[in-house]
Amino acid sequence: MYLRADAEGVPFPPKRTFWPPPRPRVGSSGPRPHVRDLGHLRPILRDGMLESYRKWAIEQDGKDYVIWAGPTPHLVVAEPSSALQVVQGGAFVRNVGPTEALFGKGLLRLEGKPWVDRRTLFADAFRGKGLAPALPIIQEEVARLIHDWSPRREAFKPNRDLSSFMFRVLSRFLFGIELDEQRYGGQPLHRALATLATQSVLEHLFPPTLVRLRTQRQVEEARRWLDAVCEMIYEKGGNTVFLGALRGAVARQQFPRSTAIDEIRSFLIAGHETSATALSWSIAQLALHDDQTEPVVAEASRTLSQPDEVNGLVNTLRWSKETMRLYPPVPLHVAQAAKRTRLGRFEVPAGTRVDVCSYVLHRLPQLWHEPEKFAPERFSSSPAPGTWMPFLLGPHTCLGLKLAMLELPLAIAGLAGAFRFRLPKGPPKVNLRLSLHPADFWIALTPR
Ligand code: HEM
Repeated sequence: MYLRADAEGVPFPPKRTFWPPPRPRVGSSGPRPHVRDLGHLRPILRDGMLESYRKWAIEQDGKDYVIWAGPTPHLVVAEPSSALQVVQGGAFVRNVGPTEALFGKGLLRLEGKPWVDRRTLFADAFRGKGLAPALPIIQEEVARLIHDWSPRREAFKPNRDLSSFMFRVLSRFLFGIELDEQRYGGQPLHRALATLATQSVLEHLFPPTLVRLRTQRQVEEARRWLDAVCEMIYEKGGNTVFLGALRGAVARQQFPRSTAIDEIRSFLIAGHETSATALSWSIAQLALHDDQTEPVVAEASRTLSQPDEVNGLVNTLRWSKETMRLYPPVPLHVAQAAKRTRLGRFEVPAGTRVDVCSYVLHRLPQLWHEPEKFAPERFSSSPAPGTWMPFLLGPHTCLGLKLAMLELPLAIAGLAGAFRFRLPKGPPKVNLRLSLHPADFWIALTPR
């Protein structure tokens, strides 16, 4: 049965199954396809989720639209006003079901008062005095990366080095510990994270029971391995603001130790690959737009003595923002309607999945002039509300935003000042993994 919509409203797809199923059309509000029909999953699997979402949004003239993931309707948001409404919360909550293996009982899966309490607990580590120790760590690690790369003359794949760079920054700053990279920071960590992330992405698309049957053993092994690393961090990590907050909360019995382990795993995941990916794409842009790098190179010699001074690296900040417009490391926010509600043209029933896809919003010709063009100067003024959201917007905005916006400009300026980059195998390809990964990414560099 169709839900009622007002005069201009479009009724949302009904709950009943029809047979034979009509071919689902993007934006259609027709009857739901049969469970055996893949619906829009077929083009998504063929062309990739993000490109399919982007293409359909343009076809829909920048309006929100409906797709069918098999028998399940998803509302895809393409209008900034709808995006803002969803991320503000209220009638919408995050769809956290599929991220259990990644974040457990951590902050990233909480809502309401438990989320407020937990966010408050960690806030001091990411602002003011709490953030200050990050600056010298980042400066040292940038110098170390430049030193390691200086002798390189052959083309190489930089992703692993960049990931290790962000891993070292994060573990030194948040956990006060230099983890043995061979054992923890390199391949094993990536394999474990990739297993858990694949599980999460699959569960976003397919019925969880189907996905769990196939991958249960690998997921459990990856979780066990990661948990052992997090236990070690909890035990042996230094007296940082972040670990201090966690240990204090466990001592006060605010939550059990297992939740503290969930939080360490969550922050490892949320704060490491995201920043590394953003840096990879920023370097690719340095190579692709060598003729535009001069204002960034000019900022390489500035020495900062406190985190806020990063705002003076105006051109490098614009470079970071424009890179994350085209390649938002976390390109999709998955929410669901907590109750029946009106969103733009649609009247959506409780439980409806709603996808806010920054990759789409960032590339819509309705919202951006020449959206496919790399043009950092467009950030000389603030983007319109709801059009740029690599860190999300609203109450769940990335807690590590300030840290990321310190790591990225310092690394970009430092590397741009030290090297000229080339892409001997062409631009990297977009590959949606745990974050928006640059695949087939090779660089060659010459010292300046
Ligand atoms: C360029 C780097 C980064 C990007 C693009 C990024 C992006 C995001 C996005 C889009 C979200 C919202 C996820 C959602 O609910 O759909 C988020 C949340 C979060 N991020 Fe980041 N992030 C970055 C770096 C970091 C770092 C360095 C940390 C910490 C060390 C961090 C910690 C978090 C946490 C804890 C949340 C959950 C916030 C909450 O639910 O209240 N992120 N991030």
